[in-house]
Amino acid sequence: MADAEFLDRILTMEIGRCTEAAAVAASKMIGRGDKNGADQAAVAALREALNKLEIDGMVVIGEGERDEAPMLFIGEKVGTKRGPAVDIALDPLEGTDLTAKGMGNALAVVAMATKGTMLHAPDTYMDKIAVGPGYPDGVVDLDASVEENIRELAKAKRVQPSDITLCVLDRERHLHIIEAARGIGARIMLIPDGDVAGVFHTTDPSTGIDLYVGQGGAPEGVLAAAALRCVGGQMQGRLVFRNDDEKARAARAGITDLNRKYGLTDLCGGDVFFAATGVTNGAMLDGVKWEPGHVTTHTVVMRSKTGTIRYIHARTRR
Ligand code: FBP
Repeated sequence: MADAEFLDRILTMEIGRCTEAAAVAASKMIGRGDKNGADQAAVAALREALNKLEIDGMVVIGEGERDEAPMLFIGEKVGTKRGPAVDIALDPLEGTDLTAKGMGNALAVVAMATKGTMLHAPDTYMDKIAVGPGYPDGVVDLDASVEENIRELAKAKRVQPSDITLCVLDRERHLHIIEAARGIGARIMLIPDGDVAGVFHTTDPSTGIDLYVGQGGAPEGVLAAAALRCVGGQMQGRLVFRNDDEKARAARAGITDLNRKYGLTDLCGGDVFFAATGVTNGAMLDGVKWEPGHVTTHTVVMRSKTGTIRYIHARTRR
């Protein structure tokens, strides 16, 4: 086996170790009402774990810009600097509020890709649409109406629109989506937070979710795209700017076309590894469990090049 290939295979598993560390740290804060404390615990643990990896990594999606995040900020170098040059997108705790309130679907997430192949998404919102694998290209489109997308997806799935389930963040800004979907009889699954999990859920029939639509964080959009690149599926996104400061963030990230519609490979185009560990219980991943003498974690690790998906239940002595 070529050295690079061997290293790839090791790294795929290693980033799972990193998300495990972040999830375990965050889990100590479940239900304590302290979302910042939970996030900080996950950030510190993830940073320590990433710095042990034999990579010359740079954070492209992180905790914020250098002046607003002390650790894992955009541009921070991570790893031993002895390995391959890679870009890293991370969310040490996706679902800070979910964790603080002890609610489901909080995750620790890391994606690692060939340098220069992930969108340097600014900390703004992004309009997103995503479906899982197995549909014809372009079955849904960000610029089509909600009704049209549901009808096309139902046609491709050979079911009625009333058999389609949409996942949407429960926000006032999404009322028009919810009304339109209900208007043609589709089912809605409203989630309080966590749209990386929302998008990811479209890839697993056991979740019952067919389509993800709505506006969430742009960095989370890149992380979700990384996951879809490994599992298959389609996604489009467009940045949303509420003010000049957000436009300036985009400019600093090197974005010139503010209206661009990004496809899946524009969001994350190279070979990518993705890992997520459940912090609290979710539809696809169990949360961290503490028992006398050990802690158990549930992690998914995936690789776009091979399409291999591994679910790892780990039991670690404590
Ligand atoms: P945090 O974990 O950073 O709090 O993000 C949770 C989240 O729900 C994301 O999954 C989503 O993209 C974003 O917040 C939505 O933002 P808002 O809460 O402003 O609607």
